[in-house]
Amino acid sequence: MNQYCDTYIKISKDAIVHNARFFKEKSNKKLIAVIKSNAYGHGLIDVANILKDEADIFAVASLDSAITLRQSGITLPILVLNPLSPQYVKNAVEYDIMITVSNLKDVMNIESIYKGKESIQVHLKVDSGMNRMGLKTIKEYKEVLSFIDKSYVVEAVGVYTHFHTADDKTYSKKQQEEFKAIYESYPYPFKYIHLCSTGATLNDLDIEASTHVRVGLGLYGICDSKEVKPALSMYSKIMLKKEVYPNEIVGYNANFKAEKNTWIGVLPCGYSDGIIRKNVGRKVYVDGHYCEVIGSVCMNSMMIKLPHKEVSETVELIGPHVTAIEIATYLETISYEVTTILPPHIKRIFV
Ligand SMILES: Cc1ncc(COP(=O)(O)O)c(C=O)c1O
Repeated sequence: MNQYCDTYIKISKDAIVHNARFFKEKSNKKLIAVIKSNAYGHGLIDVANILKDEADIFAVASLDSAITLRQSGITLPILVLNPLSPQYVKNAVEYDIMITVSNLKDVMNIESIYKGKESIQVHLKVDSGMNRMGLKTIKEYKEVLSFIDKSYVVEAVGVYTHFHTADDKTYSKKQQEEFKAIYESYPYPFKYIHLCSTGATLNDLDIEASTHVRVGLGLYGICDSKEVKPALSMYSKIMLKKEVYPNEIVGYNANFKAEKNTWIGVLPCGYSDGIIRKNVGRKVYVDGHYCEVIGSVCMNSMMIKLPHKEVSETVELIGPHVTAIEIATYLETISYEVTTILPPHIKRIFV
């Protein structure tokens, strides 16, 4: 992590706790906090520590992240959402990590490769329509559960599915029905039953039988709801101010040419800090002014147009005046991507 750099990220602990409580109250279910991909760029271990008294389970994408959490002292149950190669099941068991299984082959492979004494706890993933991972038919589901019933090493503790378009009622209703048909075809005493991500929770897509919601984006407050508080802001500092004159260019490829005398600021951050080149043309906020990103974003620096020479030096790149949702719209992407690409080397300050 860069200790001595003037570009940094600020994270509000209160906002994350507030958001977690909002989703628990809204859903009336327990919380699986999705903290994969470095907690959507917010910082895996810090966010886990902020949420350890609010969440019931943590969900991450990889066994590496799960083991990192354990090694940093996190004792809550942890679920790995992506499939795990059977040769690593022993590592998952060693660190008491739950894994996801998506087909009979996964389970049979675990059974034949894993020779440990303790069983591996698994959540069955049901594919209710997304066609990414999961058991797609009642037949597959029954085969897996009857195999697990006879297994000494695999223990089914959870079942889940994922909505692909949570803001579309028709698709989501169909997915709910698919899930229910599969889930109800083989009664099983699951401890964890979970369907709803952020959008699905906001759109009340849950079923009575579920025990948890599985929320990521909403915890960080960058979803489409007035009830949540954005947790992350990002700042940099003008390291150099200079005046450019008519017809002078700024930055690579002569993308900006001054038409008149113009004050510009140079910042110590660029696309290697998650501010991708497409940010040119969007606004940042400096001392009460919206300032345009000009020229081309470089790897470690970028230039902005200043209203005058005297503005103070702090630059809000993401924050209350330039939100991650607005930036996502400008970049033609989703807010997930705006924060998730912020690399771990940027200093994160938790307040
Ligand atoms: C399987 C699964 N569950 C839950 C989530 C969390 O979704 P959201 O961030 O929209 O709450 C994701 C996000 O990608 C996911 O892949």
